[in-house]
Amino acid sequence: MDKSIEIEKKYGSGLYSLKPFQIERGEGVYLYTDDGERYLDFMSGHGVACLGHSHPNLVNALNKQAKKIITLHSSYSTEIRAKFMELMSEITPKNLTKTFMVNSGTEAVECALKLALANNRKIKRPNIIAMKRSFHGRTLGSLGLTFNPKYKQAFKNALYPQIKFARFNQIDSVRELCNENTVAVITELVQGEGGVYPATLDFAQELRELCSEKEILFIADEVQTGMGRCGKMFACQHYNIVPDILCTAKGTGGGFPMGTVVSSPEIWYNLKKGEHASTFGGNPLAAAAGVATIRTLLDDKLPENAGKMGKMIIDDLSKLNSEMIREIRGLGLLIGLQLRSRAGSYLRYCAMKEKTLFLPAGLSVLRMLPPLIINSDHANIAIQAIKNALQRVK
Ligand SMILES: Cc1ncc(COP(=O)(O)O)c(C=O)c1O
Repeated sequence: MDKSIEIEKKYGSGLYSLKPFQIERGEGVYLYTDDGERYLDFMSGHGVACLGHSHPNLVNALNKQAKKIITLHSSYSTEIRAKFMELMSEITPKNLTKTFMVNSGTEAVECALKLALANNRKIKRPNIIAMKRSFHGRTLGSLGLTFNPKYKQAFKNALYPQIKFARFNQIDSVRELCNENTVAVITELVQGEGGVYPATLDFAQELRELCSEKEILFIADEVQTGMGRCGKMFACQHYNIVPDILCTAKGTGGGFPMGTVVSSPEIWYNLKKGEHASTFGGNPLAAAAGVATIRTLLDDKLPENAGKMGKMIIDDLSKLNSEMIREIRGLGLLIGLQLRSRAGSYLRYCAMKEKTLFLPAGLSVLRMLPPLIINSDHANIAIQAIKNALQRVK
């Protein structure tokens, strides 16, 4: 066993199942062990490394910024943060012009939740609607919005109580739960952790209409779907809808831990100074990572590449004609292969024999979240690995 695995097993919390090999470095779409073994990375740190590993634009931006200033509380302005916020307002849909910077996906959702509740402090509407199969994070606010009971059972007494779960892609189910006490609806546009289920066009558009009609805030959790992952900068752009509040994280800093909550001036106005803040959120290093990531996504047309590669992968997987495949779902480079049995042994086979790393989503879905820089050669290697696994795993 590699040495770092033993040490992490001894001194780590034990909350992660460590894989049997240790990664030394990453470059582009590959991860390398210290003895030079190479793995094709179709997980990208759970959808984080959208530019691939150690992209020179990101490395240079971080180096340059680190020499200037690494930390500066958001109560002091600095050029790189201003640039990042300006860029966010340019790439997000209209009206969403103001950004709060956070350090993770769950923090983005916590902030969105507080923002929604603050908007209703006078009229006191406490109810929130989330979707069955949703995943919004694991801190106590976002955990309440996450559906899977496995994650929340132990903490159920500490969760926000007024959350109801509607059936995803069934507008009548949302309509039934909506009433005069509903302040917000939160949804992913492609449910990621829940098994890779894209919203239908009708559902997303009818949900937007319903929220507008009843003056309910529409929160789009684009932590996994945003920053080009699904073939446009944000998944909501596929559906021609503009949420009231949009959450990002994962790819926002290309690997640097950061996220955002973006909304309109009218909505931000209701969250008062002191009611929300973050020591690390908005630090200049994160801002530099965000600027380099957005510029590279735009300059290299990576959302378009994600759309093209995603379509190619889904088309090719559809031709596999294996009785082990139940369904293939996805949008851009967020793709799920629903199998007829548990995905674990296929994932292990691909990692150990094919040197290709995928992720699960639930028990029976093999999920692909590769860097957005992949080309058709990388896609073909991944498809071949799956083909081999489907033939060889018993
Ligand atoms: C849609 C969605 N929201 C929120 C989160 C939580 O993000 P984090 O793990 O950065 O807290 C995730 C993580 O997978 C996610 O997929």
